[in-house]
This record gives sequence, structure tokens and C-alpha cells, in this order.
Amino acid sequence: MKNLSISPASASGAQLIDRFGRQLTYLRVSVTDKCDLRCSYCMPKGFNGFEEPENWLTFAEIERVVAAFGRLGVARVRLTGGEPLLRRNLPQLVERLASHEEIRDISLSTNATQLHKHAQALYQAGVSRINVSLDSLDKACMENITGRDSFASIMAGLQAGKQAGFKPIKLNMVVMGGVNEHEIPRMAEFCFNEGFILRLIEAMPMGSTGQNSQYRDIGPIRDQLVRQFDLIPAAEELGGGPARYWTRRDGQGTIGFISPISQHFCASCNRVRLAVDGTLYMCLGQDEQFALRPLLRAGISDTELEQAIREAIELKPERHEFTTQRHKIIRFMSQTGG
Ligand code: 5AD
Ligand code: SF4
Repeated sequence: MKNLSISPASASGAQLIDRFGRQLTYLRVSVTDKCDLRCSYCMPKGFNGFEEPENWLTFAEIERVVAAFGRLGVARVRLTGGEPLLRRNLPQLVERLASHEEIRDISLSTNATQLHKHAQALYQAGVSRINVSLDSLDKACMENITGRDSFASIMAGLQAGKQAGFKPIKLNMVVMGGVNEHEIPRMAEFCFNEGFILRLIEAMPMGSTGQNSQYRDIGPIRDQLVRQFDLIPAAEELGGGPARYWTRRDGQGTIGFISPISQHFCASCNRVRLAVDGTLYMCLGQDEQFALRPLLRAGISDTELEQAIREAIELKPERHEFTTQRHKIIRFMSQTGG
């Protein structure tokens, strides 16, 4: 990872500040809306409303958008999906993005089913850290949640990730009542032993899938874990995102809690999302969006692209309405970029 302690302002001093005074320093880039799994809270079984390949941003187009964000003060990029490893030649994209001085941190969110094949190349290309979705340590439960026999390949992927040198490796677990809630202590032990950072995530009502998932408030779960594992609030900021971290008093493990529903963190939101079709989504839980692809394909200049991004950022809403408008967002997480 390049030095992140320097100020997030770009070399030119340009910054992206939204109407609510939030500075945007983080871009999530979805490189595909496809996935080899069908997690119950994300993509419905039998779904096939995928974007046409001619509408996918090319690597050159993604690089152009990322570079423009970089000039506007965005220093961190996360590649996501769908499942990003389904996009062919992903390490080539990473290399292109890493060549931009302003982009100081490139990370990846993956389900890890294909990670054993690509871990080393991705690390060498410049991905420094990864987040892996893992909701259960039980093979049958994983098959139930993901719709596929995915467990063995994910475990192989995690080991390959460790060997390749990603640091840290965070495991994302979406907590669902009656499904995997009872596995949390076991998952914590597993992560402590393996050196992974566990992150417990509240299910967001995105699409019918998210709306139907068994949401649990992670507040009481956190209190229980704090007692069980003698956790104290983590001293250092880990990752600059919405997770609140707690560490074991002996320093031998960390757990993050992401509570978009019970304790939303919109006031410090520092991100927007670029979907595979070149749409910028301003918020996971709102509809505000800005289509960059038509502009890119009409041959706008770099200055015009920066201006378009500034206009888009003006649209960023103050907060999501997951609690008050539960049925509002009909797009699935895999379409926005998780
Ligand atoms: N609520 C919370 N998290 C979700 N993810 C996907 N759908 C949802 C949802 N409805 C998470 C996955 C994965 C990341 C890409 O997004 O756990 O880690
Ligand atoms: Fe695929 Fe991730 Fe959605 Fe699961 S959560 S279906 S792994 S995109």
C-alpha cells in the first residue's frame, strides 16, 4: 500500500465535496454485474437481467474515470461486482489503475471462489488488501445461502489469498436471523486463528432479496461478543469505511461491525459507486445516479469529464432511507456494486 497518511487532497489540491460537506475520497468500481453465486440477500435465483457486454465500460474507460476521480482527490479504489474475478484479465486493469500516482490504495471485494487462480497475479498487479464474503463455516449452510456448493473453493481461495500476501484479509458476514446468527462466535474464533478480520454486516433491504433477508440488529450481538472475547474499541482507524472496529484486549484479533440500519453512518459517507455500465450511483439506498458512459463514448475531454463528475456529486443525497422506506430500492446489490 502506498502511503495513506498524507492528506487525501489531490496533487492539484482539487477536492470533491458534496452538498452536505462530505469529501469524497473513495470510489467503488463494479467490473461486472455477473456472479457465480446467488447469495440469498443479493441476487435472486434464476436472475438473468444482466448488462449487455457492449454496455460494459472497457478497461480504458474505467481507467479514464478512475484517473479523473484521482485528479479530484479520490485516493482509494475498490474493485467489486457482482463477482469481479469473473471479468477477464482483471490484473491488467489493476496494473493500469495502479500506474496513476493519485490512486494510493487498490482493494478488491470477492466471493473468493476463483481466488486461488488469480490471487498472486492480483497482488503483483497492485491489489493490497481484499474483502471476502463468507457467511458460514458450514458447507451445507453455505450451499443454502449461496445457492451453490461453494465452500471448498472459497476456503482454497482464502488460503491462496493469505499466501499471496494480502493484508489485511477481511471476511464479510451478513448476519441473518435463523440462518447464520448462531455461527458468529465460531466465525470469530476462525478469524482470530487465521489472522482474518471478521466484519459483521446488517442485511440491507436492497431489492426483493435484501428485503426478504432476516435482518438482525448487530448492536446486541456486539455487546455479547465484547463480553465473550473481552473486546475493546480499536485504537487505530482500519480502512476508512463505515465499520466500527473492536479488538481483543490481548491484541490477538479484531472484529468490525457494519450497521447501516441500526446506526447509520451516512454523515461520514465518503464514497460513490461506478456500475459496470458506467452509471455513477450516489448512494446504495437511493436512486440518484449519473450516466457517464454516453459522455465517455461521445468523446468528452478530461476537463468535461471532471465537470460531469462534479455535477454528479451534487446529486448525492444526505442519507439512505432503509428504515423509513424499506421497499424503495429495487436494484439488487450486484447491480450497484456491493
Ligand atoms: N445487505 C448487506 N450486505 C450485502 N451484500 C450483498 N447484498 C447485501 C445486502 N442486501 C454484501 C456481501 C458482500 C458485499 C459485496 O456486499 O456480503 O460482502
Ligand atoms: Fe455474488 Fe457477492 Fe451477490 Fe453473493 S453477495 S451473489 S457472492 S455478488
